[in-house]
Amino acid sequence: MKTVKTIQDVCECIAGWRRDGLSIGFVPTMGYLHEGHQSLINRAAENDRIVLSIFVNPMQFGQNEDLASYPRDLERDSRLCEENGVDLIFYPEPEEMYGADFCSYVDMSVLTEELCGLSRPVHFRGVCTVVLKLFNIVTPDRAYFGEKDAQQLAIIKRMVKDLNINVEVIGCPIVREMDGLAKSSRNTYLNTEERKAALVLYGGIQIGKKLIKDGERDAVALIKEIKGYIEKEPLAKIDYLKAVDAMTMSQVEKLDRRVLVAMAVFIGKTRLIDNFTFDFE
Ligand code: PAJ
Repeated sequence: MKTVKTIQDVCECIAGWRRDGLSIGFVPTMGYLHEGHQSLINRAAENDRIVLSIFVNPMQFGQNEDLASYPRDLERDSRLCEENGVDLIFYPEPEEMYGADFCSYVDMSVLTEELCGLSRPVHFRGVCTVVLKLFNIVTPDRAYFGEKDAQQLAIIKRMVKDLNINVEVIGCPIVREMDGLAKSSRNTYLNTEERKAALVLYGGIQIGKKLIKDGERDAVALIKEIKGYIEKEPLAKIDYLKAVDAMTMSQVEKLDRRVLVAMAVFIGKTRLIDNFTFDFE
């Protein structure tokens, strides 16, 4: 396994593999890797070579967000990558990705206007811009994204379609802790009490799934029930909790298509996201 910091080094490595006719799988991350990331790497083993990027992308963080405190541990990440068959880690500095004169952005409408896009207005512009840059640098055959960030996955799929990017985007299921909490690099921010309280996200999802199984088809009633449950936890503050069309991200009233129920909940100061999708068609 190689770790490189420059775009040129990535391109040279990729060019060699291309000459040998090898397929390339790509896993973009912000590092501090856990079993969620690992599941993407393991899926990417369907390619001849695996590239993983670690870049805490400043462009996708808002002014009052956790860019400075975002956890970083290259040594630990490298070990996990090595053990899971990654061939190349791309670990650029911000200056390598964004020159002082940088001024081109990917600005998507519609899909970015709900959910995380509402509470994090610059977020998806940063995500799309960096992911397009990474796609252009790595030129993968396939790229792997987690369903934990369901809106991000839908947005990347749409960007690839709208902008004719030659990559297959593959969504991978949410990996959870034993007690149901979705794995996240941000879980490290939680103290013991908050870690317990964070279970309301998964609890809410289970309640939602049960209601649907029992026949609930009214989105407003569904969200009301889940909300009521989460609000009983004193450490939890809901940022958003919505049922949206899984393709367009626009809010639905009736559960009559493929619906994404997505939430962002503050547990103390830590903002956690989780979701489930249900196909009513
Ligand atoms: P990051 O939060 O590091 O996540 C990298 C990838 O891992 C994303 O596709 C995310 O959905 C996936 N992932 C995280 N936790 C997961 C879990 N519990 N189960 C399954 N997959 C999980 O998402 C980003 O980085 C960035 O926005 C990025 C796409 C790299 C652009 O900067």
